[in-house]
Amino acid sequence: MASRAKIEISRVSKVFDGSPRNRTAVFNDISLTIDEGEFVSLVGPSGCGKSTLLLCVAGLESRTSGEIRLEGKLITKPGPELAIVFQEYALFPWRSVIRNVEYGLEAVGVPARQRRERGRAALNLVGLGAFAEYWPHELSGGMRQRVAIARALVIEPKVLLLDEPFGALDALTRSLLQKELSRICQATGKTVLFVTHSISEAIYLSDRIVLLSKRPASIRLEVRTALPRPRDPYDPEFVALTERLERVLLEEVPEQAETMVAA
Ligand SMILES: Nc1ncnc2c1ncn2[C@@H]1O[C@H](COP(=O)(O)OP(=O)(O)O)[C@@H](O)[C@H]1O
Ligand SMILES: [Mg+2]
Repeated sequence: MASRAKIEISRVSKVFDGSPRNRTAVFNDISLTIDEGEFVSLVGPSGCGKSTLLLCVAGLESRTSGEIRLEGKLITKPGPELAIVFQEYALFPWRSVIRNVEYGLEAVGVPARQRRERGRAALNLVGLGAFAEYWPHELSGGMRQRVAIARALVIEPKVLLLDEPFGALDALTRSLLQKELSRICQATGKTVLFVTHSISEAIYLSDRIVLLSKRPASIRLEVRTALPRPRDPYDPEFVALTERLERVLLEEVPEQAETMVAA
């Protein structure tokens, strides 16, 4: 199958330059190409710059050097081609579920009837068709995060960016949403860049896993996996890959590993 580069991250570095005492080199010389329809996960120790890199791709954070392109075009500002979902469910509490989902379409002037139709389709896609008229506070955390995903998908972005979207959920809800996201991505063929600190979550979802080193981060390891979907975390190949990547990740967090032993 011919693959086409959707996102090209070329030699990107980021330094947060506050005062001379407060200079943080976050990541250094990162190059990564994400193909059309590919699901790529970024994994790395806490504070290595995963969120910052995702914000740079979204056009929400500036780069210190290097270039990021979407379909060959330099990304300089946020736009509807790139939708981002964060860990916290950033829903408007004063809007019903459907009106939360329609929000992005209002911003670009889509007429009301079309908004409603597309909003309903997006809600159906995340399995919340029956909850259109509910208020955010009437939903569980997992349902709210589904609404956030529907709101990102409804604008039909070229790339979906997710930053630890299931990080605040309990383990059962988390695995349910992983399953849902995997199904949605298979159904829509979306190009996805997904940030997580969970190796098994990354393996469950991704075509490719990119492991970052500790700060200043660079790419430590890239692994492709073609395990058949839906993936089974108890499958011996899945388990072996998890173990292999967790060992590498642990090398990137020696202090934390020691704390864990001491605790
Ligand atoms: N706006 C900012 N100003 C200064 N430093 C920042 C800013 N955002 C993040 N950082 C620093 O950059 C580093 C990477 O942060 P982040 O991208 O959030 O890491 P991760 O998502 O991998 O946990 C951290 O040391 C953090 O303190
Ligand atoms: Mg983060």
